[in-house]
Amino acid sequence: MPTFNVNTVDWDELYDGNASYAPGNPGWNIGELQPALAALERQGLFVGPVLDSGCGVGTASLALAEKGYEVVGLDRSASAIEKAKKAAAERGLTATFEVADLSKSTGYEKYFNTVIDGLVFHCLPEGLRHAYVESSARALRPGGKFFALVFATEAFPPGADFGPRPFTQQQLENIVGKHLFVDDIRPARAWINVPTALPEGFEYRNVTIGHDGRAQLPSWLVSAHRH
Ligand SMILES: C[S@@+](CC[C@H](N)C(=O)[O-])C[C@H]1O[C@@H](n2cnc3c(N)ncnc32)[C@H](O)[C@@H]1O
Repeated sequence: MPTFNVNTVDWDELYDGNASYAPGNPGWNIGELQPALAALERQGLFVGPVLDSGCGVGTASLALAEKGYEVVGLDRSASAIEKAKKAAAERGLTATFEVADLSKSTGYEKYFNTVIDGLVFHCLPEGLRHAYVESSARALRPGGKFFALVFATEAFPPGADFGPRPFTQQQLENIVGKHLFVDDIRPARAWINVPTALPEGFEYRNVTIGHDGRAQLPSWLVSAHRH
């Protein structure tokens, strides 16, 4: 049975709701900025221009645009970017959305003061992880900040060989630390919509269901900056 595999995933199919293993609205489309990232914003840690890396349908980008930030949302899925542009137009918000592969050069060099990654890093094939962080680092101005919300290994059964690729704190330190100065990697929660069904053999572990009916998964909040 086909399932989510970071090496073969068709993001357009998922955003169009046509993936047989995950029909309908993708679980990460929670309609608001991930609470762990929203908390950083409230602390005044986001400075524009902001790159929403792997922006999906633009939820985070538009939440920040609404607060007055200059935001660029990049994603490799043309379907997601189309939905993001439509949402921006419907809400009368200004944000730039472009199709781009973040594991390659995006054309943005030393442009952003902040890069945010909401649940993207753990979706990358292993071979693209370094190129992705390097590309984010290049897009930042010196001193610019990188924040990523990444699933922790506790969120899945040990040894699961499909689904998002969760990380230990040390693994994240090793990868991100090669390209950026790591300031902090702390336990956090990632919100997703509670799935009505999961592919055979797939399960989440150590999940909390919040008062809003959403699932909160063990994650890491990575804070780093460009030298
Ligand atoms: C789990 S979704 C999260 C989307 C969004 N950040 C959010 O929180 O709603 C992961 C996103 O990463 C994007 N993505 C995966 N690999 C990418 C790459 N190499 N370059 C750009 N985007 C990528 C996918 O298309 C997808 O939109």
